[in-house]
Amino acid sequence: MGEVDSTNAAAMRLLEEGSLKDGLTIIAEKQTAGKGRHGRSWLSDGGLCMTVLTEAVASHAGFVTLSAGLGVAEGLAAAAGRPFFLKYPNDIFSEKTGGRKIGGILAQAKRGWTAIGIGINMEQTSFPAELAGTATSLKQLGVTMNKEIAAAAILNSLEPWMDVLKAGNIGLIRERWLKLNCTIGEKVAVRDVSPTVEGTATGLDEDGALIVETDRGLVRVTTGGLMIARPSDAPRTGLSAPPKKE
Ligand code: BTN
Repeated sequence: MGEVDSTNAAAMRLLEEGSLKDGLTIIAEKQTAGKGRHGRSWLSDGGLCMTVLTEAVASHAGFVTLSAGLGVAEGLAAAAGRPFFLKYPNDIFSEKTGGRKIGGILAQAKRGWTAIGIGINMEQTSFPAELAGTATSLKQLGVTMNKEIAAAAILNSLEPWMDVLKAGNIGLIRERWLKLNCTIGEKVAVRDVSPTVEGTATGLDEDGALIVETDRGLVRVTTGGLMIARPSDAPRTGLSAPPKKE
């Protein structure tokens, strides 16, 4: 498809119309209203924008984004010949430590289906000031790859991970995610909650929630955005996520 408001929005419209096939994929050359998580917009010029529709897995909802992340990171890694990493819950990162965001996932559920929206920074040579210190692209990493190759590689890897999820093999997803993640052991802050949750990410529980060790004890973060705290970030607050406390 050429230009669309958002491949996720297009997927949602298809869901309204019905007659869907598992794995149906929408890829757009350009998005005019790309969506990110927490209502943010997603700048996609020069990037890969795609959405894959898959039947929802209600019993393991906390692992949908995590298993999709595995598909994206491993697919890109296979095509690029270098590894990529996962920041909880939905970011694709360039390095295990000190990396930058190269892509993100926006999973939206409706009518028994999940739309897995995937945005990858491909050809960007610069980013707006507010993203300049945290975002990167394949081009900036010195990886030359066209969008078709990237999309095919991601789909090849995403499908088996969706099968693992549907089969309920959560142990395998958890184990692989723990290997590829760049969150555990890091100082994190969860924004949009009051008081802000700050602490050290220590693990991933059996529901796919991140465990954060804080001054107030262990907190489960189920959906929230995380900020890996750097020295210069320390006083800042603001991410979103209603953490559940047990
Ligand atoms: C995030 O990191 O906030 C998630 C970004 C997801 C962006 C992709 S681009 C393709 C799909 N269509 C959208 O409108 N959003 C997702």
